[in-house]
Amino acid sequence: MAANILDWTDSWFEKLDSESKADNAGSIAARFSGEVAEGRLPFCSMPFMSELLHDLAGLEDYVKSFDHMLLLGIGGSALGARALQKAFFPQQDQPCHKGPWLWIADNVCAGTLDAYLEKLPLEKTLVAVVSKSGGTIETISQYFLVRSRMQEVLGDSWNRNTIFITDKNKGFLREQADQLDIRTLEVPDNLGGRYSVLSAVGLLPAMFMGIDYRAMVEGASAVLSPLASRDLNADILRRHPSFRLACWGASLMDEGFNELIFFSYVPQWACFGQWFAQLWAESLGKEGKGSQPIPATGATDQHSVNQMFLDGPRNKACLFLTCPDLPEGKEFPSDIPANFAYLKGKKFGELIHAEGLGTKMALSANNVPLVEIKVGSENEEAAGRLMGLLMAATIFTGWIMDINPIDQPAVEMGKLLAKARLGASGLENEKKSLNNFLNTKRAEQPF
Ligand code: PA5
Repeated sequence: MAANILDWTDSWFEKLDSESKADNAGSIAARFSGEVAEGRLPFCSMPFMSELLHDLAGLEDYVKSFDHMLLLGIGGSALGARALQKAFFPQQDQPCHKGPWLWIADNVCAGTLDAYLEKLPLEKTLVAVVSKSGGTIETISQYFLVRSRMQEVLGDSWNRNTIFITDKNKGFLREQADQLDIRTLEVPDNLGGRYSVLSAVGLLPAMFMGIDYRAMVEGASAVLSPLASRDLNADILRRHPSFRLACWGASLMDEGFNELIFFSYVPQWACFGQWFAQLWAESLGKEGKGSQPIPATGATDQHSVNQMFLDGPRNKACLFLTCPDLPEGKEFPSDIPANFAYLKGKKFGELIHAEGLGTKMALSANNVPLVEIKVGSENEEAAGRLMGLLMAATIFTGWIMDINPIDQPAVEMGKLLAKARLGASGLENEKKSLNNFLNTKRAEQPF
């Protein structure tokens, strides 16, 4: 199997003095080992994995007996599943697909939810409600409506078609599961949503789609096990690709590169860009620090945002995803006009490699520090390695920046204001701010 490679040639690693960020590698290695031992980094040590793989194997026949899975979740409870769906289950977006179908309801869109409720054959649908906290309003509000409809259609047996992925002990979904006898899988302690793709959160939908989720786990643990090992020390950490990425990412921020493009020239892996964007932004946007992740898709975005990448503000760096092993596609016919004659005898798949090379060179020529992530194959094992690499790199970047990459305190304010607006009890300060806001004369202009 071809190896995954990080190509640092165009990264400016030396010019940015990224190496200096590794000065504290000894204390970071000690901290990492300590947190692994205390169970605070389960995305890396995966202490839950053997039990989960066992449980998933036991559930396989049941899960695959459904034609549809309707996943209710948001943020880290949905983005991993969508990335896996787009990467490894593209047939659902292609003509003549005959099932199974995964539907991911990760927004507050009444039109979409109505369509699911009206059109899905609920007797053949497994509803997977995914929420670590068990209380996220976007997810739980959808659950209430789906539950009512399921009760109407399926009667008392509605819970047979329902599974929760949530905390083992806490939260509203856990209470519901206990009261209503609903099957559950756990989100382990200390596993935040954006680090949870390789738990039941991502693996259950992966199994439903027939994705080789075990290979994905193996790929991730190949990258992460040296970090989870008791032998971790400064030297091992300094050489680890995730730590090098973190040193690079943090030194870029110091030099004013406050945007980080995730440019995928593996078209079906483009949604890993959205997954990475949430991971990076929610983990690192703290205390006025961080860099804004920008997911982009080659070749599509060459005709969209690439002009800005190349000639807009010089504040951008790039993670550039490629794979030499993409499908070759059909050969061009011979009856093509002279001005396209260079395509003759070539296959359609050659175009994406040529365009990727061209874009990568153009970005470098325009002073965009760039690390190329070459995945050896477009398969699950390689994807597991990629996700493991990026999750670890994000943690290390946060630690080098001296912020907490696990929490997301700033997003609370908007959530509380929305609840106050809907009349939730308490929240007196939020209600006061809302009144002030709503009573302020707006500067409005019709158009
Ligand atoms: O990464 C995170 O922690 C968040 O994006 C959560 O995944 C998101 O807020 C959903 O939370 P929950 O899984 O508790 O419903």
